[in-house]
Amino acid sequence: MTTMTRAQWADVRRILSAYVRRGDPAIAARDVLLACPDVAIAQAAIGEARERSRSATTRAALGRLSRLMRAHAAGCERIARMLRAEVDHDRPLPSVDEGIAFCRKLFDWSVRQNPESSVALCSLGSPRLLARVTHEIVAAFAQWGVLGRDRDTLEIGCGIGRMQVALSGRVRSAHGIDLSAGMVRAARKRCAHLGNVHIQTTSGRDLARYADRSLDLVYAVDSFPYLVQSGMALVETHLREAARVLRPGGDLVILNFSYRSDAAKDRRIVRALAKRHGFAVVRCGDKPFAHWDGEAFHLRKAARPLND
Ligand SMILES: C[S@@+](CC[C@H](N)C(=O)[O-])C[C@H]1O[C@@H](n2cnc3c(N)ncnc32)[C@H](O)[C@@H]1O
Repeated sequence: MTTMTRAQWADVRRILSAYVRRGDPAIAARDVLLACPDVAIAQAAIGEARERSRSATTRAALGRLSRLMRAHAAGCERIARMLRAEVDHDRPLPSVDEGIAFCRKLFDWSVRQNPESSVALCSLGSPRLLARVTHEIVAAFAQWGVLGRDRDTLEIGCGIGRMQVALSGRVRSAHGIDLSAGMVRAARKRCAHLGNVHIQTTSGRDLARYADRSLDLVYAVDSFPYLVQSGMALVETHLREAARVLRPGGDLVILNFSYRSDAAKDRRIVRALAKRHGFAVVRCGDKPFAHWDGEAFHLRKAARPLND
């Protein structure tokens, strides 16, 4: 492989073998583009890996991946351009102020590039692929018993409002907050026809606009990694705030706590946070989805406060 660095080729090979073992091609396409944000070079590497393989199963899997990327060529090109622009990075930010400014700029810019890619790169920019993941999350929520027509819900970092659209018919109210004005505009447009959906701009620092014990479910899909990037003080505040706004017995679900690829460390931190803020840990960092590799943390507030 002459057009890919040695390190990139090693990464791509690792991604492809993980995908062949048990993977979803959309996740593999995202990871390959993250490792090598040039679609032609990435496709050539997949082709080369396919030619080199003696296993029919591997060749078939790599063929599926190539075809998916070709079928979403424009979306893959856009994602590669977004990655090359380097507006996003995963370096820790020096202060909460800088973290919030970084996220606002990043997501205002991302949603202008493409709504679906701005919230999930593994959508490859496709509404259909994004809906597949969204439905999987909603099915998991239903199975975990956190939905209901008598439940008031809030998403921290609601992005384009895909979760509110999907949950609107299954809950009493579906609130969403986001610090990006561009995301809030996109979410309001998407949810305009839904009377029980409420989208608000937030400072990104707390849940101040929500009253004590006013919600049954607080959740975050892929927004906690940005809180973590802004510093643990912001994470701590959000756990304290979630404990305040949830009714007794209410649920806090965090899908992806960080992007640092250290699952054991994330599990340790979430358990400690849960203990400090009066939550029981129901699930801690498993990967329950087929079409998305998000890690799930489900915490439950005590049914009756300890001092009652
Ligand atoms: C990757 S997107 C995911 C959006 C949405 N949860 C989804 O999955 O479709 C992360 C979102 O979190 C928002 N966000 C980041 N930090 C935030 C904070 N401190 N408070 C509220 N929203 C935040 C971003 O603006 C962005 O819309």
